[in-house]
Formats: sequence, C-alpha cells, structure tokens
Amino acid sequence: MKIIATVREMQETSEQLRREGKRIGVVPTMGFLHAGHTSLIVKARELSDVVITTIFVNPTQFGPGEDFERYPRDFERDCKKAEEAGSTIIFSPDVREMYPEGFASYVEVEHGSRILEGKFRPTHFRGVTTVVLKLLNITKPHAVVFGQKDAQQAFLIQKMVSDLNVETSVVVAPIVREKDGLALSSRNVYLNGTERERATQLYRSLKFAKEKIQQGERSVDILRAEMKRMLQSAQPTQIDYIAFVRPDLFQEIEHIQPPSVLIALAVRFGGTRLIDNHLVSVSS
Ligand code: PAF
Repeated sequence: MKIIATVREMQETSEQLRREGKRIGVVPTMGFLHAGHTSLIVKARELSDVVITTIFVNPTQFGPGEDFERYPRDFERDCKKAEEAGSTIIFSPDVREMYPEGFASYVEVEHGSRILEGKFRPTHFRGVTTVVLKLLNITKPHAVVFGQKDAQQAFLIQKMVSDLNVETSVVVAPIVREKDGLALSSRNVYLNGTERERATQLYRSLKFAKEKIQQGERSVDILRAEMKRMLQSAQPTQIDYIAFVRPDLFQEIEHIQPPSVLIALAVRFGGTRLIDNHLVSVSS
C-alpha cells in the first residue's frame, strides 16, 4: 500500500499509471471507513486496474458549528480496510496541501444545490464540488465511485462533471445498510444506544412510503404527513426535511409521477444529523 500526501506526487503517480495503460479508479472519502466505503472500493476495483482511495476531511464542506473538529478519524484502520477491499494507493493530503494560503477558487453547481441539504447546509455543496474537482484533477481517474447514500451529492457531482467536461465516468453504488435498515454512515458512531434504536425508523418510513406508492398513492402531501407521523414516533430532536424529488432533474415534486421518485430525508437525534433516501419505481 502506497500512501501519498502531496498533490505533486499524486499527479505524477497517476500520470505514470496512465502512461502504463492502467485504468485508474478513485473513491473519494473523508475516512473512518465502514462497509459502505469498502463496497465503493470493491466497485472501483471491478472497473479499474488500480484503486486510489482519497482520505481528506474537507473543511470547506462543513458550516460554522458543524462537526469538522470532532469528525471521527482513524487513519491506520482506514489504510487497512482500504487495502483489504482492493485499494493500493491512499491519497491523504493535509489541509494546507489542498488549500494553500491565498486559495480563492470555488465550484458551484447552481441547479439542485439549494434545496434539501443545500437549504440546511448553505455552503456544503460548494465545498464538496470544489474538493471533488480538485481530487479529480489530482488523481486523474477513468472512473470515480460515490455512494447513493448522498444522493444529492452524487447528482451534483455528475452535473459538474458533465457541465465542465471532466473526462471521467461517475459511478453511483447502492446504499449499504445495517441488518435493521440503518444506512451506514461515519456519523452513526455519535448515536447513543436509544438514538441508535430509534434511528431505524428512518428506513422504516421510507419503506412504508414505497409500499404506499406501489399501492397507488400519488399525493406527496399525504405521503409526507404519514412519514412525518412515523418519524415523530421515534422522538427525533428535529426533522429537517422529507422530500420527494424527480431524480433526473433533482427537482422537488408535489405529485408522484412515473417512472421514479427519490424520497429523501434528514433527521436529527441529539447533535447527530442523519440522512437517508430511497429510489422508488412508479408505474403509470
Ligand atoms: O461523501 C463524502 O465523504 C465527501 O463529501 C467527499 C465526496 C469525500 C468530499 O469531501
């Protein structure tokens, strides 16, 4: 396993790999890897000869008062997990390497970035798209793999890559869940026992809405009210949103329409904010 910390060495390594005709797959992460991340590494390995896992807790995507400082970190364990899953290079720069003094350029996708997560975390996606474009320019992948868990992030990155003619293919891999349905997330470690138990209600409410849609319910108001009632029974600190989105345009809808709808939610338990989503096929 090779660990690279500088932009220059990473770019030179990727250029050399490309000269040798190797296909490069990249999995961008903020570390504290779990089975969701390793499934992305396995996917990248299927698509490429060499997998680079990037580990960088990106300060520009955290707002004031968010958890940048206390975001969980365990570099040694991450290297082990990444290697076991099939990664042979870790790119792990420090903050100064990625944002040297005087850094002043940001990338913003205007469409789809101000609703849902963007409404509650106004500077978040600007930080994400900026760091992802930098990581793509530094690692030069043929394919880059993201998780469907962050559905809005995946949409915005696909849009950025297409709009700015970045030569890579963006692959979105399915959500990995615990046995009881909770979507894997590095932030799950913040939950105490009671909150962890209650958090299973997120996926239950998504599955409930899916069943209702399959039975013919088309009113977003009715579906949202029923999901809200289910979520409130878990006594969350706050429900930030329950949104119904047209997946190809990332636009909120008020009436369920074929061929599919993305149901997305964000719920807080204590100081922990959890997001989840479910893509549901809709028949005509
Ligand atoms: O999904 C994440 O972990 C982060 O948003 C990403 C894509 C690594 C950018 O920092």
